[in-house]
Amino acid sequence: MKKKIVVLTGSGISAESGLKTFRDSGGLWEEYRIEEVATYDAWNYNPALVLEFYNKRRAQLAGVVPNAAHHALVKLEQGFDVQIITQNVDDLHERAGSKAILHLHGELTKVRSTKFAELVTDIGYREIHLGDLCSEGFQLRPHIVWFGEAVPLIETAAELVNEADILLVVGTSMAVYPAAGLVHYVKPGCPIYLVDPNPAQLSGIPSLTVIRDKAGSGVPVLVDQLLHE
Ligand code: APR
Repeated sequence: MKKKIVVLTGSGISAESGLKTFRDSGGLWEEYRIEEVATYDAWNYNPALVLEFYNKRRAQLAGVVPNAAHHALVKLEQGFDVQIITQNVDDLHERAGSKAILHLHGELTKVRSTKFAELVTDIGYREIHLGDLCSEGFQLRPHIVWFGEAVPLIETAAELVNEADILLVVGTSMAVYPAAGLVHYVKPGCPIYLVDPNPAQLSGIPSLTVIRDKAGSGVPVLVDQLLHE
């Protein structure tokens, strides 16, 4: 029976692929105001601007590729049962070949009906506009969890973290809840490794090892270490 590793990833793991993080200098939230493009109220107030914001990010995603960190997490599956829990809405874990991926904050390549949330379709890197309707005739919206909306998969994610034998945290400032609270669901004594060049100060985490490095270099080294332990 392979040991279970859960990997909680944030925008930092995709930084070396060329996708902006949110809160680093030059991050997305410096260009746009969250309130204008990533909240439910923004959608009601100016849906065209919200659609433009996600159309731009989807187009950018088409032009980037997974990096060494994404690929190392696939290699990790040679020796462990690996579950990715990502806050990212990009599809780089999928494109690298990871098998088990849970998107806490939705997926950029998917859209859903504004009336029937279960009507989700994959549009790849195409744009959507006002007037693009679901099969039942209602406006399509990005399949993204906006600020102020519930995070439907958070309980599932907490259960997965609680089952982990090892937790890796890669490239997240741990600034946004409920995702940031997941580290507290580990079993007592479960080793936690944090890979980040500018790591969040995680207090009250007993079994934490901080690897102050970029994901593209730090994750492959950590994966090789775990596979050969
Ligand atoms: N390798 C690893 N980590 C990196 C790298 C890199 N090359 N570059 C930056 N980082 C780290 C930063 O030091 C920071 O800790 O990635 C983290 C990025 O933090 P944020 O920009 O806050 O992104 P994230 O934690 O994913 O944000 C969480 O907030 O805006 C919402 O929904 C959005 O999912 C997002 C959530």
